[in-house]
Amino acid sequence: MAGPDSLRWRPRAAGRQDWASWPHYDAAGNGFPGYWYPVTWGSHIDGTPRAFTICGERLVLLRDGGKVYALHDRCPHRGVPLSEGDQQFPGTISCPYHGWTYRLSDGKLCAVITDGPDSPICGKVTVRTYPVAERLGLVWVYVPIADERPHPIDEQLPEELVGNRFVVGGRIEPRRGNWRFACENGFDEGHAKYLHRTSLWRLFKPMPTWNVTSVIGDGRWIYRVQDEVHWEADFPGVGRWSNQRWWKRRPPKETFNIGNTGKPKKIDPTIAAQEFAGFASLSMPGVLRIVYPKFIHYEFYVPVDQGEHRYVGLMVNFTAGWKALGFYLKYLGGVRWLFHGQFSGQDAWMVEVTDAPPERLYRPDVSLTAWRNLAEREFTAKLEVHGCASS
Ligand code: FES
Ligand SMILES: [Fe+2]
Repeated sequence: MAGPDSLRWRPRAAGRQDWASWPHYDAAGNGFPGYWYPVTWGSHIDGTPRAFTICGERLVLLRDGGKVYALHDRCPHRGVPLSEGDQQFPGTISCPYHGWTYRLSDGKLCAVITDGPDSPICGKVTVRTYPVAERLGLVWVYVPIADERPHPIDEQLPEELVGNRFVVGGRIEPRRGNWRFACENGFDEGHAKYLHRTSLWRLFKPMPTWNVTSVIGDGRWIYRVQDEVHWEADFPGVGRWSNQRWWKRRPPKETFNIGNTGKPKKIDPTIAAQEFAGFASLSMPGVLRIVYPKFIHYEFYVPVDQGEHRYVGLMVNFTAGWKALGFYLKYLGGVRWLFHGQFSGQDAWMVEVTDAPPERLYRPDVSLTAWRNLAEREFTAKLEVHGCASS
């Protein structure tokens, strides 16, 4: 007999109930292995061991002889984090508990201080080590799928950041929310013109009401391409809505794809030479690139675990010498606070409170599905290259 519960009206489940169409993406709550990830600024790593979690893996990082090393942050003896220990000998790290001492280069147990010089366990225990590289002022760690050798990091960096001269300003922040929500938010077509309409970064710049956008693939990147930009609209039975205000600049007449508030007069030659197909682009394993006429903004969404990620925001200016000083003044005086701070803080807020799936996607969400398709495709191919079953 039907109980009272079955009499209650329930909406039929509409939309997407799960992410079963993207099984690898669905399973990647802790991130995708097989990539390099930026962990922290190189200047923050010295001879004192520091703990980080990346892709669910606990790491200890420290610098020795100018080189940064990354080891699994767990002493195999009794499970104490090596990041609680320190260096007793050059080229090693010692666990604080019983003094088991590991070689930084290969993680081999090379001395056990509390068992004397002839300790028979030496050489029989190994802590996992991770490949490390330094680029753009950041320390990058490769998180392997199995025990494979990493691909060269330059193959994974945005192409324009290899071989050109530039200066970098940036901000790294631990943030709440899964890295996939952060990445999806970064490339999300729908939100910027609405969520960020109150941000100071956008105070004088016109913002559209709605756009018609397509997503196109080019190599390992996908691009958002604006087909139509609508600055105001009449919503039937509801009223007129516009982001325009008397103090904002007038919206441009033409559609454009470098910069998002108007057609630029002058574009930096290095940026122009890249011939980017669109203003916003995204690549694995969660690298967003927003192209402005004079600089490029990057966001790296570094997985920590299911509930947290690291936001790495970089502003890159393709300049050098005394001109770099102007960039740093502009960055530290305004951009860092307005863009990497308050504007980006609105994104952090949304990423923290997003709760999906289930979800009911709408037309602009082609940006989300294109990204998930890219992730699924690229990771499936990567597993095949490494001889891992794709299931
Ligand atoms: S737990 Fe590390 S030396 Fe004992
Ligand atoms: Fe945003």
